[in-house]
Amino acid sequence: MTPSQRYYHITTFGCQMNRADSERMAGILEDMGFIWSDNPNDADLILYNTCTIRDSAEQKVYSYLGRQAKRKHQNPDLILVVAGCVAQQEGQKILRRVPELDLIMGPQHANRLGDLLQQVSDGSQIIATEPIHIVEDITKPRRESTITAWVNIIYGCNERCTYCVVPNVRGTEQSRTSEEILKEMKILGKRGYKEVTLLGQNIDAYGRDLPGVLKTGRRRHTLTDLLYTVHDVSGVERIRFATSHPRYFTERLIVACKELSKVCEHFHIPFQSGDNEILKAMKRGYTQEKYRRIIAKIRDYMPDASISADAIVGFPGETEQQFKNTLKLVSDIGFDQLNTAAYSPRPGTPAALWVNQLSEDIKNDRLQRLNYLVEQKAAERSQRYLGRIEKILVEEKNPKDKSQVMGRTQGNRLTFFKGDINQLKGQIVDVKITEVRAFSLTGNLAYK
Ligand code: SAH
Ligand code: SF4
Ligand code: F3S
Repeated sequence: MTPSQRYYHITTFGCQMNRADSERMAGILEDMGFIWSDNPNDADLILYNTCTIRDSAEQKVYSYLGRQAKRKHQNPDLILVVAGCVAQQEGQKILRRVPELDLIMGPQHANRLGDLLQQVSDGSQIIATEPIHIVEDITKPRRESTITAWVNIIYGCNERCTYCVVPNVRGTEQSRTSEEILKEMKILGKRGYKEVTLLGQNIDAYGRDLPGVLKTGRRRHTLTDLLYTVHDVSGVERIRFATSHPRYFTERLIVACKELSKVCEHFHIPFQSGDNEILKAMKRGYTQEKYRRIIAKIRDYMPDASISADAIVGFPGETEQQFKNTLKLVSDIGFDQLNTAAYSPRPGTPAALWVNQLSEDIKNDRLQRLNYLVEQKAAERSQRYLGRIEKILVEEKNPKDKSQVMGRTQGNRLTFFKGDINQLKGQIVDVKITEVRAFSLTGNLAYK
């Protein structure tokens, strides 16, 4: 290590949006001459890209920060940055707990990291949390994978689900233009990326802030139209998108997924609760019947489609019977995967102020019961793969067994099989599935 070299480390918490933002911020740092260091303790700049979706996520950040703040006392040149959703939510308040910070920056400021660091080096402590229009980024992201990539298509969220901090911390919806998205995907295709996941907190809202209405009254820019626009990018062989909102999900989108061969038959559509009263209290804008109709429609067109979702248990006032309605929905639909969470009251959200909060014991008990069912159902769903030949996009070595590689099916099941990563990385190969588990599969390369 020569003294002129400067090292950085980024720790990322939270969702895919944060991971995509971290990749862009890493790109900016590398443009400035910083070099990645695996070990945060060797870094001259440490950035925590934070999540505040639940209290536990937020507390984790403070414990990490505390450790690095101590290190700054020995090394005053260490630059400490808090980015992401906790930064946006807490802003200046973080300084009360960690006065050592150099920069606090909300997610909308990710592309401005270079400018903000310049201000830090001029000697100021900077807080960048005011709402701004996100400027297109010209920096090359430093992507974690060389095979799969995320592409943001819409930032922010205009919904007001009563439990959720995202609209407070990510701001109002801002769609990227289809030209910019197409340009980014073409570059990815040329660089050898095989899979792109289009990202948005409410991806069905894509385009509603862009101008243009067709003669039919339909918006010119929708997720469905975007899929047709980007489908033929050469090199990219798989396209996914997340997260879908049941309120805005359309049959036109289902038809497009069926028609467009590169779009994976995998749908991530959070339902949050299987009870209509709770859905209303959450302000989700649909009923459980509507949700069931969406899934039935998807399965009419694509009987094998994978379905995943998110659900919350222990929302304020949720009765045992209402919770059982969630269990029933999960049991009836049979999800391939379900992200579950116990409700966590968040500052600045309406539901946090309600008096009918449930005890941690009830929430945890329901979470465990739901998780048990989820695993059973996922294991049942995995059964359909047994003996089948699946197309697997190979991503990496299996870290737990070096003789194996791992990748995913079209439906997003993690799959392991014997093989040499040097030969197989980035290829889509036929694998015969010989073993199935709830959330992963094992197989053998199928030779033709
Ligand atoms: N935009 C997505 C979800 C984004 S947040 C959607 O509308 O579905 C990811 C998930 O975190 C949510 O789907 C929800 O299940 C969970 N979540 C959000 N706020 C929460 C809270 N206060 N307590 C527990 N889980 C929460
Ligand atoms: Fe949160 Fe609702 Fe927006 Fe999803 S749609 S990010 S749950 S407010
Ligand atoms: Fe967390 Fe922010 Fe994502 S709160 S879930 S990192 S949008």
